[in-house]
Amino acid sequence: MLRAHLTANPRTPIAPINRRLFGTFVEHLGRSVYDGIYEPHHPSADPEGFRRDVIELVKELGVSTIRYPGGNFVSGFRWEDSVGPREQRSQRLDLAWHSTETNEVGLLEFSNWLSKVGSELMLAVNLGTRGTQEALDLLEYSNLRSGTTLSDQRAHDGHPEPYGVSMWCLGNEMDGPWQLGHRSADDYGKLAAQTARAMRAFDPSLELVVCGSSSASMPTFGEWERVVLTHTYDEVDYISCHAYYEDHGDTAEFLASGVDMDRFIESVIATADHVKAVRGSTKTINISFDEWNIWYNERFEKVDKIQGSQNWPVAPRLLEDVYTVTDAVVFGSLLISLLKHADRVTSASLAQLVNVIAPIMTEPGGGAWRQTTFFPFAATSAHAIGSVLPISIECETYDTRTFGSVPLVDATATHDTEGGSTAVYLVNRSQTDAIEVSIDLGGLVLRSPSARTLSDTDPLAANTLTDPNRVTLQANSSLTQSHTTLTIVLPPISWTEIHAHGIIETKEI
Ligand code: AHR
Repeated sequence: MLRAHLTANPRTPIAPINRRLFGTFVEHLGRSVYDGIYEPHHPSADPEGFRRDVIELVKELGVSTIRYPGGNFVSGFRWEDSVGPREQRSQRLDLAWHSTETNEVGLLEFSNWLSKVGSELMLAVNLGTRGTQEALDLLEYSNLRSGTTLSDQRAHDGHPEPYGVSMWCLGNEMDGPWQLGHRSADDYGKLAAQTARAMRAFDPSLELVVCGSSSASMPTFGEWERVVLTHTYDEVDYISCHAYYEDHGDTAEFLASGVDMDRFIESVIATADHVKAVRGSTKTINISFDEWNIWYNERFEKVDKIQGSQNWPVAPRLLEDVYTVTDAVVFGSLLISLLKHADRVTSASLAQLVNVIAPIMTEPGGGAWRQTTFFPFAATSAHAIGSVLPISIECETYDTRTFGSVPLVDATATHDTEGGSTAVYLVNRSQTDAIEVSIDLGGLVLRSPSARTLSDTDPLAANTLTDPNRVTLQANSSLTQSHTTLTIVLPPISWTEIHAHGIIETKEI
């Protein structure tokens, strides 16, 4: 059996874990909202039409913020359509996804749903087909208590209390030619700075996210960040990163996706810090990784994509990827990458939440179930508490076409000095070999540690409507603790969590 050794240092934590790392994203896209979170005729629907079974699964997933209402959708969105009496709301074309938006669920309904699931609203404004004034109007409608036409309209619409939205995205993926209102970095940077200044004239404490690149493979990547931040550095708090991964037929390469995410994050940090140095600024810009996931985009392009100028369906089945065990292992490694950079990635949104590239799936009139990716997210959200610890890993490597030599094991560890809760997350990227890992947590002796692993003899196994519980986390009974060393066996292509609620002692080392 292959062997690896991991050392973590609880004395010099990297950074506290911001709960906002466990955010997700609900876009008006496909069956995310309609026939997803909202299905008024479903047997489990509550009086407002929201599926109670979905609400329970979202709570179990452990979601902090939820980004809304897009995505590409937001770049053609008229927010006024989504408020006011439902019977008077306009039906609109959604050019991003070639669908019809009924506006049956809008800001009021969505915020009511958010209070049922206990998550924080993160809003994106349309800087594609609209601009600063409409962003200001939405801000006033959302966050001003009363006394103006827009704030009083919100109260009249049924929400007397302001929504109090703190986090705002200044548009979406404005570097992408597919985006309605796509602009050059220079043009977008000026518009974003102007909009940010205006929004902060209303409330200087707003947390603003400027659009970074829609992927590290964009031809403008790097230069886009430099130019946009040069315009907006003093006005914003975050720059966004977006990344999606899929298996293009080279599974070894796919399993190394976390390496790509690490490099992406580190390049954006370097660019942001370059702008900081040039400006002589004392302020640091952090990353909002507000779209990340596995996405079989090739399938969307070939199979799902809707066309035809007279063909604009309501809530079509789009981006309904079925995730395998291998997908979930890569997904778990992306969470490890986010945690490893918790000092600068202080907000993230899994894209998305229900039905659309989602950890939760539903069938109209039928069941709701957890995809394979549900498990690493729920476990990490529940147990990655306190701070992330610096670690070093000694293990074998393998060769990949794009990333060169990649370690077979990736991992991160978290520790909460107050409650003692400790967790280690590990990925085995080998497709053939189990790996025995010895773990030295710098003197921590854990109280009754336990381990759960996601793996399967069939790495393509998945959960489906007819077999919703095929894949789940399994107890990993190979875990032992001797003195200050944990030892565990990681099966091939696997994601593992070791967790303990407390520590017995910290030995001097
Ligand atoms: O999450 C699906 C789409 O991916 C979003 O609408 C867009 O922002 C990104 O390209």
